[in-house]
Amino acid sequence: MAEIVAQDVALAKAAALLAAGDLVAVPTETVYGLAADATSGEAVARIFEVKRRPRFNPLIAHAGDLAMARSYAVFTPLARKLAEAFWPGPLTLVLPLADGAAIHPLVTAGLDTVAVRIPRSEFARALIGEVGRPLAAPSANRSGRISATTAEDVEAELGDRIKLIVDGGPTPVGVESTIVKVDGDQIILLRPGGTPTDALEELAGMKLVAPGGGIEAPGMMASHYAPEAAMRLDVAEVRPGEALLAFGPNRAAGADHAAAVRNLSPSGDLREAATALFSSLRELDRVGASAIAVEPIPEHGLGEAINDRLRRAAAPRDSAPVND
Ligand code: TXA
Ligand code: MG
Repeated sequence: MAEIVAQDVALAKAAALLAAGDLVAVPTETVYGLAADATSGEAVARIFEVKRRPRFNPLIAHAGDLAMARSYAVFTPLARKLAEAFWPGPLTLVLPLADGAAIHPLVTAGLDTVAVRIPRSEFARALIGEVGRPLAAPSANRSGRISATTAEDVEAELGDRIKLIVDGGPTPVGVESTIVKVDGDQIILLRPGGTPTDALEELAGMKLVAPGGGIEAPGMMASHYAPEAAMRLDVAEVRPGEALLAFGPNRAAGADHAAAVRNLSPSGDLREAATALFSSLRELDRVGASAIAVEPIPEHGLGEAINDRLRRAAAPRDSAPVND
């Protein structure tokens, strides 16, 4: 079983394991990550084994600072502007891979681009600095399942497969980073997330564009974040036997008879709702209800990321999960 160690005393131990090619679950401001030395093929291969993640789905390479990020990714002036405004923070930039970058090709799935972010979590940045190399880290959950926002959730997902979980408490943002590809003078939105789209558009002075034909983010297939229970979105009425994921002050009809209720934010605050999303889904899933009914959530600000995750959680599960 994995050992759970508080982040203020975990740095040396976590760095030593990573330097030796092992995996460590690490808190970031978005969700917990399953980290490995991004320059070691053996270490990165362990991520795919432990998560049962398909190898064609590339990983984010996390940097401790801009100098490290620039050692493996090419920044245009537009990319630099985004980085300076939003890093450290929940934004991932997909950029051209730099010539001679030390990133192992398993991280990029052989693409000529690399996903980069500098996390806001001080522990994560200190750890990257201590190891002295970028860390590849997908969300610390089994492939296709709900992302982990507490050390206990990581333990439930991966506790029997890794040695160390660093406990930084509940993650403050609660949904994964926003992923954009900076392509010439265009910014392509690959995944809505913890940095709201409108904040990016305001800073860049332009609209983000949707991905064109083909799958731009190999991991962005429909079914993901799948709870055991079925999901029903935008409900006005709770059916018998269902659990309710609520939002805001007003309840759907039949809420009194729900098998269980979790309110993402009684006051209707989308930031608070993002923080509570994955843990609430996990809790409602444990109730054993026939389905999880979800009240409507506004599509602006962090609502875009919340609705994206809910739609993936509700997507048909008949195909094998290809995401993580
Ligand atoms: O907040 C986050 O982003 C968390 C924390 C741990 O940093 N990480 C995370 O990683 O969500 P993951 O592996 O669950 O999602 C990364 C996504 C995948 O959908 C993958 O396909 C996409 O990034 N991706 C990675 N490299 C890419 C590339 N070169 N081009 C396009 N998409 C890429
Ligand atoms: Mg994930």
